[in-house]
Amino acid sequence: MIEVKNVGRVYGKKENAFVALDDISFSIPTGATVAIVGKSGSGKSTLMHVMSGLDRPTTGSVVIDGKELHKLKGKDMDNFRATGMGFIFQSFFIEANQTCQQNVMLPLEISGLPISKRKKAVLAALTQVELADKVNTKAGNLSGGQKQRLAIARAIVNKPQIIFADEPTGNLDSATGQKIMDLLFGLNKSLGVTLIIVTHDHELAARCQRQVVMKDGKTVTNTQKQNSGSLNLGKVGK
Ligand SMILES: Nc1ncnc2c1ncn2[C@@H]1O[C@H](COP(=O)(O)OP(=O)(O)OP(=O)(O)O)[C@@H](O)[C@H]1O
Ligand SMILES: [Mg+2]
Repeated sequence: MIEVKNVGRVYGKKENAFVALDDISFSIPTGATVAIVGKSGSGKSTLMHVMSGLDRPTTGSVVIDGKELHKLKGKDMDNFRATGMGFIFQSFFIEANQTCQQNVMLPLEISGLPISKRKKAVLAALTQVELADKVNTKAGNLSGGQKQRLAIARAIVNKPQIIFADEPTGNLDSATGQKIMDLLFGLNKSLGVTLIIVTHDHELAARCQRQVVMKDGKTVTNTQKQNSGSLNLGKVGK
């Protein structure tokens, strides 16, 4: 369960202060598929960054399976993120000078998978995104879509419980995008991975059980497929 409690995020100070997230509260049950939608600049990426521990909220908290995420420090935070979460973000955070293998191996190094098992896990993840032939290619030499697939391989290599994906198919042709989404939804079905996806793609959003709609840093509505459990968007106590 992921609980977002009264989360606010303000960028800048004083007269330059900008409220990117304004008192957001909702909760997501384990194993759910959730689309975060809304116009450009509405705060979707900021919300994902805060929910995944990449950024800190200015106010409020994010609680994952009873643990307050932003209270974790240093190595505890790194370890929690590397073992429990996968990330596919708009700026891929790919190391251009490292090979595909090195890029995908990073979460395994942080989580401490035995060295003998790492190469096999990396190859399996690269195979799933059809990049097995690029194991030793420098990430900087990949095409845009290949970089995106590399980011996806890195996000799934550890079999995380939660995958955060910010426009995961934004740079892909529709056939490749479709395959990637089938892969992510497949992980949801087979392993119960919670999927949280920012998307402008209506079809993709409709495939998710729930939709959180953002407008000017607030959640405006949420829709939910029938029989998919409850997404509580009500206020939670401070
Ligand atoms: N580091 C920052 N400093 C100041 N303002 C920022 C910063 N990062 C984001 N913002 C502002 O916060 C708002 C929300 O940005 P965010 O990136 O979350 O939007 P988004 O919904 O993901 O948009 P898009 O669909 O274009 O990716 C925007 O108005 C943006 O300009
Ligand atoms: Mg964004």
